[in-house]
Amino acid sequence: MTRIAVIGCGYVGAVSAACFAELGHDVDCIDTDPARISVLKRGESPIHEPGLETLLKRGVERGRLHFSSDYPDVFEAKIVFIAVNTPESHEGAADIRAVRDAITLVAPRLKYGSVIVNKSTVPIGTGELVSGMARRSGCGAISVVSNPEFLREGSAIRDFMMPDRLVLGSDDPAAIDTVAALYGNIEAPVLRTDIRTAEMIKYASNAFLATKISFINEIAAICESLGADISEVARGMGMDARIGNRFLGAGLGWGGSCFPKDVRALAHMAAVHGTHPQLLRSVMDINAGQRLRTVQKVREALGGLDRRRIAILGASFKADTDDTRNSPALELASLLHLEGASVVVYDPVVLAERITEAVPEAAVARSVMSAAQDADAVIVATEWQEFADIDLGALGDVVAQRLIIDARNLLDPVAVRSAGFEYHCLGRPASEGGPVLPSVAKAFAVAGGAS
Ligand SMILES: NC(=O)c1ccc[n+]([C@@H]2O[C@H](COP(=O)([O-])OP(=O)(O)OC[C@H]3O[C@@H](n4cnc5c(N)ncnc54)[C@H](O)[C@@H]3O)[C@@H](O)[C@H]2O)c1
Repeated sequence: MTRIAVIGCGYVGAVSAACFAELGHDVDCIDTDPARISVLKRGESPIHEPGLETLLKRGVERGRLHFSSDYPDVFEAKIVFIAVNTPESHEGAADIRAVRDAITLVAPRLKYGSVIVNKSTVPIGTGELVSGMARRSGCGAISVVSNPEFLREGSAIRDFMMPDRLVLGSDDPAAIDTVAALYGNIEAPVLRTDIRTAEMIKYASNAFLATKISFINEIAAICESLGADISEVARGMGMDARIGNRFLGAGLGWGGSCFPKDVRALAHMAAVHGTHPQLLRSVMDINAGQRLRTVQKVREALGGLDRRRIAILGASFKADTDDTRNSPALELASLLHLEGASVVVYDPVVLAERITEAVPEAAVARSVMSAAQDADAVIVATEWQEFADIDLGALGDVVAQRLIIDARNLLDPVAVRSAGFEYHCLGRPASEGGPVLPSVAKAFAVAGGAS
């Protein structure tokens, strides 16, 4: 058992702390948000993350998790994880003020030979900045390790306990060994590298996953105009081991607390250092376009949006989380409101105030059926299982107009249409009343003309 500290108890920090306690370590958790700390002290989870509360309760009962909103005078733990937020700044760079604040407070309180482990996603070079700050604070010899986190909200515990790999970057091999030992019971390949490379692996991984989603969304748009089915195309592509089947779901596009800020920060770093990040820029453009394409579908299906009542199912940026940061569902709600629609949002876990903070004009419903009451259109905007299991008969009874826009390709088109709904989705074959498919001859003529 090793005594460690985790600074920042959000989605990454709370999960890491709970999992390290589960692995047998003694964990001091510090967060500057006292409200969050008092929830955690009771062994409750401040966020919706499946399985987290069970681990937190167990960690607290076993006396392995200790929470505080104050930094101790001296850190007993010699390994300190930084898991604070690094949001996007105005220029698109990562804002690392919270990291700086944490290091300013942590470094002078560390014992000789301590290791600072950075789990926050930080710009390349931050590890060296942290080393310099620590050195100047006079805390003596300490080492810095970059240990980027790859967990996904919604399956964070599983991802932490069964990662595809651990990435550890440092110029101190002994410090890497110390951190690797904490994960001792976890079976995963460990990639040991230098600190800048470790920091870059995180950005490159997120940018690649975002690219995969934007790629499939572009293919979905092409499928739609040529009459192919994106679900089957993605299935067929995913069977190729070189491609893999994950992150190939066409829909509203990516959002959340990581991809948008990380892709932008990487593009910003590239531009500042003289590289033109043209692929990353296209990936972001395609993503923004997905929201607009969806609005256009609703507008066309309704013949205009002014004073239309639209039910939006989902507010979180994806299923199984309450995180609404950069949520495509809420961006869609805002866009529809701007065009004069009156929007009603329902989400199984997101608190009403989170929804109205993001879209003040939105009404918030407490169930699918109350959101859909008298609606002119129902939009599936987050892929919650509850929406996949929707009672289409009951839904048909409450809406004003039987129209579903499935922006996540979640529902079975046959079932929806046989329940009497007009159904639109993204990149699946034209429905009755949908666009007329182009003739194959026309496509060949264009291709022939170009050659
Ligand atoms: N959320 C994810 O899925 C995820 C996945 C991988 C990596 N990351 C990265 O991990 C980092 C943390 O992300 P998150 O989603 O957990 O953020 P979060 O906003 O959920 O949590 C950050 C926490 O840090 C606390 N904090 C801020 N400044 C502090 C300070 N000086 N001292 C102590 N506590 C402080 C905040 O109060 C907050 O509770 C980010 O860099 C993010 O990019 C996030």
